Amino acid sequence: MRTIADPQTVHRRTQAPPAPPCTLVVFGVTGDLAHRLLTPALYNLSRWNLLPDDFALIGVGRNEEGTTQALRDDLTAAARAHAAQKDDGFDEGAWQRLAGAVSYLVGDLEDDATYARLAERIEQGRGGRGAHGGVLFYLAVGAGLFGPVIRRLAAAGLAREEGDAWRRVIVEKPFGHDLASARALNRTILEVLDEAQVYRIDHFLGKETVQNIMAFRFGNGFFEPIWNRDHIDHVQITVAETVGVEKRGRFYEPTGALRDMVPNHLFQLLALTAMEPPTSFAADAVRGRKQDALAAVRPLSGEDVAENAVRAQYRAGMAGGRALPAYRGEPGVAPDSSTETYVAMRLTIDNWRWAGVPFFLRTGKALARRDTEIAIRFKQAPLALFRGTGVQHCQPNWLVLQIQPDEGISLQFGAKVPGPNIELAPVEMRFSYADYFNVKASTGYETLIYDAMIGDATLYQRADTIEAGWEVVQPILDAFAAEAVPLATYPAGSAGPAEADALLADQGCGWRPLA
Ligand code: BG6
Repeated sequence: MRTIADPQTVHRRTQAPPAPPCTLVVFGVTGDLAHRLLTPALYNLSRWNLLPDDFALIGVGRNEEGTTQALRDDLTAAARAHAAQKDDGFDEGAWQRLAGAVSYLVGDLEDDATYARLAERIEQGRGGRGAHGGVLFYLAVGAGLFGPVIRRLAAAGLAREEGDAWRRVIVEKPFGHDLASARALNRTILEVLDEAQVYRIDHFLGKETVQNIMAFRFGNGFFEPIWNRDHIDHVQITVAETVGVEKRGRFYEPTGALRDMVPNHLFQLLALTAMEPPTSFAADAVRGRKQDALAAVRPLSGEDVAENAVRAQYRAGMAGGRALPAYRGEPGVAPDSSTETYVAMRLTIDNWRWAGVPFFLRTGKALARRDTEIAIRFKQAPLALFRGTGVQHCQPNWLVLQIQPDEGISLQFGAKVPGPNIELAPVEMRFSYADYFNVKASTGYETLIYDAMIGDATLYQRADTIEAGWEVVQPILDAFAAEAVPLATYPAGSAGPAEADALLADQGCGWRPLA
């Protein structure tokens, strides 16, 4: 496709001003998340001149032998490894600006003394101006520590805001493991923090293509008039991965595909697809409309779950070009595990826009292809025009928002095959991000961290949205736990279990092909 805008002029990051003065405190700085994602994201923010000049990063960890120099070396290695993997060169100056702002604080997160020392360090930091700038606390720790750390931050006075001395907390996932625990965590947090201080992360919202769903829907006039039950037959949302559980068996066993992916990532995609237009891009305008959409999803009642949801686990096979053992043979997994690695469901949304339009969701590990997409199938054209021709059926019109990989948008429709006969064949028009824009290698966390620094919570989850997601998922979790839905299996590297096909039986088409 032809480029009609200069990619350089449309890149938001190049236009945004640096974040205001702040200190970023990372709890769990020696962990995997901090190395794999946060460090590369901060490095990118430094390269794009989006970190303030007046910036400090305090990494809190339990390693008593740890020093500031050792942490700097460690994070340098992580940043370099990421740049090498992306084949993106390494901007030494940008990294040194960031590395020079890093310091290490040793401390047990369940010990009050750690927070007293942290308060001192913040105070001393940034040339003694610490207390007058913002402080962003990032909880890159196990979910069991979210409540305890937040309570201690508040008890140490670290959550108190005054003037431009804002205090914000980023809470990682998983946010609860069911409805009751999510509600309890929200209560614990909101006893000591104001909702406006809480940034609940869902890294899917950091993806450009996910943010583009709203831009595409509400920044263009052409699809919105037909974005409803009069014109849409159904919606398929797929998040397919080729990887198995890898080394995460211990985390995954009590979690499973439903908890791991649905109330958060898949429901974000569903909410952005189904929401009404917000009155502005202000955080609460957007989050309010997403909340409405999720609250309108009809929770499946006990008996309906078996008819509308499928769960399955992978057997041994070849996926992503690699031989994978059966899930039950993965490290940290019980040999008789009944944890699902795949889940699919049919949901309905009870509102005027969507009544009668099924939303089919599926996600799984060890599948044939890595593919995250939202596919909208429009209603078929009536056949009358083609009576007496060779055309047996009209081609379905699909609009596909390809979230990853091969980020883009495609529109599929039927076109006349050249020749004397009237014959239709499916054709595709495609927009690809890589062709149009100068896409920069990023982790998706850049936007999220920057937004938290500037106080924009649009891309973060609100307490009620989190709970609305769990409300839909809870009856399915209960039915799975009661074995009311049999555990199917599928070979690694396939498109999933055959049982999932039955969900679409009334639709006159199957799942979009994965293999
Ligand atoms: C995480 C899940 O939240 O999202 C993982 O815990 C999953 O199991 C991952 O693999 C998928 O994210 P992405 O960005 O790789 O599509």
